[in-house]
Amino acid sequence: MESRAKLFGHPIHQMLIVFPLGLLATAVVFDVIGLFRADGVWELMAYYLIATGVVTGLVAAVFGAIDYFAIPGGTRAKYIGTMHGVGNVAVVALFGASWLLRRPEPGNPPFEALLFSFLGVLLAVATGWLGGELVARLGIGVDEGAHVNSPSSLSGRPAGENRSIAGFNGPERRYGAAAAYAGAERRAR
Ligand code: HEM
Repeated sequence: MESRAKLFGHPIHQMLIVFPLGLLATAVVFDVIGLFRADGVWELMAYYLIATGVVTGLVAAVFGAIDYFAIPGGTRAKYIGTMHGVGNVAVVALFGASWLLRRPEPGNPPFEALLFSFLGVLLAVATGWLGGELVARLGIGVDEGAHVNSPSSLSGRPAGENRSIAGFNGPERRYGAAAAYAGAERRAR
């Protein structure tokens, strides 16, 4: 199902999610390093990473929601999308709470602040998988008719064009599909 919010022919949500995922996960890595160091520098960096991760997460969520509302109701994709969306809002909320708890002394976060961050990143592993399920398994954010020979997203032509030659551009076309796929059997004979 084609994305409703695209830039240069690709879904904006998929472009933006790298920021919250990367920033928030790195914040947790820095917190862990900070546990072994006494200067508070790593926790301070985590504090700024979390702030940026939360803001970019909220921006990414807007474009995810645009695609989510276009998914037909009663489908598995709608169900997975709901779990993914709600779960990711919870991820952002956990990191937001962690950031607020750090504010009085960013270089020396309380236990609860670390707990919320660590829970947030664990939850993000699950919600990230659900996002992958939406795209790779359920075809959300994938152009209608996409195939291995689809024309460029910038061409303005539908992804389904050239389907008749899809998969038959390489050895299959030169030798025929059966011959191209019979390599192992032929060699074994
Ligand atoms: C910080 C928040 C979020 C993160 C980190 C995130 C992450 C992801 C990831 C990793 C994917 C898979 C992308 C791929 O495999 O290329 C994805 C896809 C998707 N997400 Fe999110 N997501 C967030 C928020 C939301 C929200 C709030 C919604 C809906 C209410 C949503 C709806 C979708 C949809 C519909 C897709 C399918 C692909 C597309 O339409 O672009 N996401 N998301």
